[in-house]
Amino acid sequence: MRTLAIFVLVAAIMTILAGCASSGSTGESASTEGSNIKIGFVVKLAQEPWFQTEWKFAREAAKEHGFQLIELEAKDGEKVISAIDNLAAQGAQGLIICTPDPKLGPLIVSKAKEYGMKLLTVDDRLEGPDGPLTNVHHLGISARDIGKMVGQALVDEMKSRGWNMSEVGAMALTVDELQTARERIEGAIEVLTANGFPSDRIFKTAWRSPHNIETAVEAASVALTRHPGVKKWIAFSSNDDGVLGFVRATESRGISAADVIGVGINGTSGVDDFRKSNPTGFFASVLLSPRKHGYHTAEMMYRWIKEGVEPPKETWTTGILITRENYQELMAKEGLL
Ligand code: GLA
Repeated sequence: MRTLAIFVLVAAIMTILAGCASSGSTGESASTEGSNIKIGFVVKLAQEPWFQTEWKFAREAAKEHGFQLIELEAKDGEKVISAIDNLAAQGAQGLIICTPDPKLGPLIVSKAKEYGMKLLTVDDRLEGPDGPLTNVHHLGISARDIGKMVGQALVDEMKSRGWNMSEVGAMALTVDELQTARERIEGAIEVLTANGFPSDRIFKTAWRSPHNIETAVEAASVALTRHPGVKKWIAFSSNDDGVLGFVRATESRGISAADVIGVGINGTSGVDDFRKSNPTGFFASVLLSPRKHGYHTAEMMYRWIKEGVEPPKETWTTGILITRENYQELMAKEGLL
């Protein structure tokens, strides 16, 4: 009788543990047939199309190579810790992460080390007290160059609309705690001012976390109220969602799309505006390569675990400008439509 009771108790505990290990997963997993390699892919904001697209491509790599991909979202430090614990409980040997906060860097590094997991960061680089953790393998965008492309697209479109730059306001929704975001904004400003845009007409507004379209609308609305005299606007930010927030805020104030030029980064959210039958203030975006950020990172991690092939310490990706005129062709080429 006692043996039976102990057996039942042990079975119950094992069931609970198995349940804990799998809870929190927000995505599907690929087949593990022929492989016991498990890779965690943790992102900071699963609602953002950019991260959904990254996961989609990572899933393709998992399917192709036969490893298991575990997709988790972690919006803050606590969620990051539980995600890594969860991955360890499932036996993951590798962690790919876009952190919700770069300052979690030392914690993420020590957690991965504690569990013997290989670590590769994507999109947002980890930081320690003395700056970026350059000894952690990373794949991100060439942020300053991409920011410059945004600035150039804004200058070109102002010219083609015949705008007088001294009458235009430039709205920048900023995320100063993130290096890649800072560099994107700085790159855009560099090109604008080099082309004669007055720096005192560039209005920076902090965009608070979570960085979604709703919070961007809020930040932009407050900023628009502060500048009632500006009749023509250009806008840029760290990504499409920031610019889309600005564009939605101008629409709700009755500012015409013809008086707004927004240029985003990512392509994955901005495409929704290109699909609308009438042009909006969201004029263009620098399309990045979620395939490289998703498929390529997952594949690098897989080879690292399976064959001991260490990925390059740093990989920097590029982008291409898309507008409503050419997005279908260019996105199709990237496997995005
Ligand atoms: C950051 C942004 C994302 C995307 C990636 C690209 O994480 O928040 O929207 O632009 O960089 O690396």
